[in-house]
Amino acid sequence: MNLQDMTPQSYDRYLSPLFAAEDEALRAAREEMQREQLPGISVSASEGKLLHVLALISGASRILEIGTLGGYSTIWLARALPPEGRLISLEIDPHHAEVARRNIQRAGLTQKVEVRTGPALEALAKLAVEDRALFDLIFIDADKDGYVEYLGKAVPLLRDGGLILGDNTLPDAVLNPKADSGTKRYNAAVADHPDLVSILVPVLRSNGIDGLLISLKKKR
Ligand SMILES: C[S@@+](CC[C@H](N)C(=O)[O-])C[C@H]1O[C@@H](n2cnc3c(N)ncnc32)[C@H](O)[C@@H]1O
Repeated sequence: MNLQDMTPQSYDRYLSPLFAAEDEALRAAREEMQREQLPGISVSASEGKLLHVLALISGASRILEIGTLGGYSTIWLARALPPEGRLISLEIDPHHAEVARRNIQRAGLTQKVEVRTGPALEALAKLAVEDRALFDLIFIDADKDGYVEYLGKAVPLLRDGGLILGDNTLPDAVLNPKADSGTKRYNAAVADHPDLVSILVPVLRSNGIDGLLISLKKKR
């Protein structure tokens, strides 16, 4: 077989079992999302592990997630937290939030994770006035048309040297190069941002290739 014959699935079949094997809690979370008929739009296991490793590398003890769904990526991220670490996840859909809370409880992470229900922009405005430490890592994975606004709210909530991760940022740009889209506007805003140094990394999904835009907030 040549390199050109390889599919994203053939790569994922090799690396996911080796580096991103799911344990009982992650498997149960996926099954619960299917039973509850949530859309199948979680990160893949290998992208979940990438989020986990990035959270460990950045030494994150405070994580913000925008877009919880059933809490699958939440579990990967929260497992990278130290004992006193905390994760806040924002979700507009009460049914998604309820499924996520169950999955997070089954994973033994209730003490570390708070799922806040409501529109992310409202929650971000509240976070901006709360008297609390800045976040070390912010994962943006909600409605794509909101990404540029989320970026604007996220940067001031992030410590210098912290990470902003933007999910699903590659396919639109490549599949519909002429069409406008929320993720393309996000990519352009990030690429131009004077406080961020960034790279868009392709990630493997069971149905193809997606992208995670990784941005580091420069130290002043
Ligand atoms: C792609 S899914 C998140 C997947 C999840 N991060 C994972 O990988 O397991 C996007 C989620 O964002 C939520 N969402 C959409 N618009 C939102 C908004 N304005 N505020 C908060 N959450 C929103 C959706 O209900 C959905 O559950």
